[in-house]
Amino acid sequence: MNIAAVDYDGLIPNNVALGHDPRVKRALEKWHPGYINWWKDMGPEGFQDSLVYLRTAVSVDPKGWAKFDYVRMPEYRWGVLLAPQHEGRKIPFGVHKGEAAWQEVPGEYRAMLRRLVVIQGDTEPASVEQQRYLGKTAPSLYDLRNLFQVNVEEGRHLWAMVYLLQKYFGTDGREEAEALLQRRSGDPDTPRMLGAFNEKTPDWLSFFMFTYFTDRDGKMQLEALAQSGFDPLSRTCRFMLTEEAHHMFVGETGVTRIIQRTCEAMKEAGISDPNEIDKVRKLGVIDLPTIQKKANMHFSLTLDLFGNEISTNAANAFHSGLKGRYREDRLKDDHQLDGITYPVLRLIDGKIQNEDSPALSALNMRLRDDYVVDCNVGVGRWNKVIAEHGIPFEIKLPHVAFHRHIGEFTNIKADVGGNVLSDAEWAKRRGEFLPSDGDKDFIESLMQPQMEPGKFASWIAPPRVGIDNKPGDFEYVKIADA
Ligand SMILES: [Fe+2]
Ligand SMILES: [Fe+2]
Repeated sequence: MNIAAVDYDGLIPNNVALGHDPRVKRALEKWHPGYINWWKDMGPEGFQDSLVYLRTAVSVDPKGWAKFDYVRMPEYRWGVLLAPQHEGRKIPFGVHKGEAAWQEVPGEYRAMLRRLVVIQGDTEPASVEQQRYLGKTAPSLYDLRNLFQVNVEEGRHLWAMVYLLQKYFGTDGREEAEALLQRRSGDPDTPRMLGAFNEKTPDWLSFFMFTYFTDRDGKMQLEALAQSGFDPLSRTCRFMLTEEAHHMFVGETGVTRIIQRTCEAMKEAGISDPNEIDKVRKLGVIDLPTIQKKANMHFSLTLDLFGNEISTNAANAFHSGLKGRYREDRLKDDHQLDGITYPVLRLIDGKIQNEDSPALSALNMRLRDDYVVDCNVGVGRWNKVIAEHGIPFEIKLPHVAFHRHIGEFTNIKADVGGNVLSDAEWAKRRGEFLPSDGDKDFIESLMQPQMEPGKFASWIAPPRVGIDNKPGDFEYVKIADA
């Protein structure tokens, strides 16, 4: 069988030979109607009948795995796709390093593994729920299509995790798969599992920041799980990463295009001081200091997703071979972390300072450090656009102690430079660092839909190239009359 090809004959497209696995096939077919109901209830509001120019995976071959066509979203072919198995793969780290990778769940780690799959799975539908109203205020059909592409792929990522639950975790797996459809982002009684996935995504700048910063947390987690000794999880995550790249592309280029438009408008109006906020806003674009504040918010909320800097759970998941480090396979050490230390930023005697800790306990910290490095790459590209327009402003990621709700810095207030503030100072200066109500109102006032092919809202530049090389005036979404 050609693993790269996807079988589209049944209800559930797959490359895992579902046709020869009647128990799992039946379980997934039973889960399917609940999923479609969830999508119709919680997926993009108002566009379920529109034709959207979407990519669908037809292969897991990295060179050419997708085809593009118009699809009504509820008819999207969500499927189960795993990257090809590597013959003879070994567990790459932890106490079982060098043993054959597990093709079945190792009994002693069953609960831990299930939890990792459920937590990852829970984030996928959560982001669809968070983004469900954005379609109504899309700045262009191009952006509307990108939103929906991200949404359907997050739906597919849910399928990916639900397949693992149904195939490998028996009755508990089935119950967890049901629960993934029951929780709701932001619901006080049945919230999603992680904080950042219960926040609102109220506007398009938030959406782009979310896909830049929070989908990138997704990338880091998937990279760590792609190293897993449990081979089906590794293969699932490897394919998800191919899709994830597009989500971060949407975020990075979205923010780039907003910055570009702001800089162009400032230049045209002869404004060189980025802090002349009122003047800039009168041009119908988003001032750079407000973009910085949004970045501060999304970055800090996303850092919380990495959990406590020092974590026994993370140590156990590594030690047992379930969750590796970022790109474990490229690291040169013993892959067991015996007697090795890692510098962890901690609050010691009221001061923020590094302390060497056992590397095994510091894995969350390490993954977060890798994340920050990765985040800074795109920020550098944003700053290049600003510099090209000769405007004296630089977007900077805030200090990791800023605005935190999990980990070492939960109980202090720090400014974006990492200086500890009193509660009173924080209250007074909060609006310097995070969007104020006035900032939010201003952004909201700009969120007027632009649904004419080839046109863009005042506050965002067109993309350099179209999706699938389509021309600028391509009708990415054919909107159905309500
Ligand atoms: Fe995802
Ligand atoms: Fe994503």
